[in-house]
Amino acid sequence: MVVNAWGAGCCVDPAERKGKNAHAINAIFTGHRPRATHHTHPPMHRPRRNRQSLAIRSMVRETTLAPADFILPMFLHEDAVDTPIDAMPGVTRWSLDSLVREAGNAHALGIPAVVLFPKIEEALKSPQAAEAYQAGGLVPRAIRALKAAHPALCVITDVALDPYNSDGHDGIVRRDARGGLSILNDETVDVLCQQAVCHARAGADIVAPSDMMDGRVAAIRDALDAEDFTGVLIMSYTAKYASAFYGPFRGALDSAPREGDKKTYQMDPANSREALRETLLDEAEGADMLLVKPAGPYLDVIARVRAATMLPVAAYQVSGEYLMLKSAAASGWLDERAIVLESLVAIKRAGASMILTYFASQAAGWLRDD
Ligand code: PBG
Repeated sequence: MVVNAWGAGCCVDPAERKGKNAHAINAIFTGHRPRATHHTHPPMHRPRRNRQSLAIRSMVRETTLAPADFILPMFLHEDAVDTPIDAMPGVTRWSLDSLVREAGNAHALGIPAVVLFPKIEEALKSPQAAEAYQAGGLVPRAIRALKAAHPALCVITDVALDPYNSDGHDGIVRRDARGGLSILNDETVDVLCQQAVCHARAGADIVAPSDMMDGRVAAIRDALDAEDFTGVLIMSYTAKYASAFYGPFRGALDSAPREGDKKTYQMDPANSREALRETLLDEAEGADMLLVKPAGPYLDVIARVRAATMLPVAAYQVSGEYLMLKSAAASGWLDERAIVLESLVAIKRAGASMILTYFASQAAGWLRDD
């Protein structure tokens, strides 16, 4: 009997094995199939048939990118002038007016959402980070202005204390008798709840806790619901790693920790099972969307989180990833459009359906011109 497939055991007619038809045996390995005996040969598999033309490639493509996949992170400050960010060529910290204009431009390109990151004046920072939940603060004013100008644009806010905290940490810091630093979990969660409610009152559609405190998703959900904000979504930073790729961002907002690092709350880059533990907890606590950050160096984590949950998964291509791609393009050695779109499609292929990226507007423009 002849089994007509590679690896299925007997591929070759025993008669051929005896050398009766040496040419046919040879043909198996060369890919030439003599007509008279073709039924006795395993098929030559030719995956390249599915790649032979633009039309066929576009039909068999498994992952596509669209402007609707992107969320644009935007920096803002109190100043009336816009400030280019040194370490992030092409990225600007906007005044309130410019923020509204630029968010409108992004929306017109098909980008459904923006996420806001404020630079808070030094004088307003404090150990308790009370500026994080002032109704008249920079972020609530920005949310109101954005929603008034672009009601259909989804406004996402970052919920964490680092821009407001004089210690530069995402949570409230306590110094013990020996001078050691600890980040207080439950005290921080109380402030995060006030911050989330403050953003919801101003009109935020989605709040995105990026602080990595334990139990904050359930607490924020309760706080929002208690104020009747049952429709405000929580996009939880589920697996946020203690990453060196955040460097340019911290420079942009002057939000680096004054002392210590973030390793007691952000995750160890060496771990991925732990990301699944966080996934199960965030899901049980009522998160609507989960986020993995950074994105490019953590594609395996995106894929594992994708497989472990029914919730939508987002990934954040962070400032250091942006800087690497921009500098490589600026060197002239790599093609910017090609590497950026490849980096984004890879993040989507890994399992993210939403990508926070500083390339959002540029990439949306390229996709539109295609
Ligand atoms: C802080 C926050 C950070 C980023 C987003 N939110 C920095 C940090 O955790 O230190 C980084 C984003 C980027 O690098 O683009 N809550």
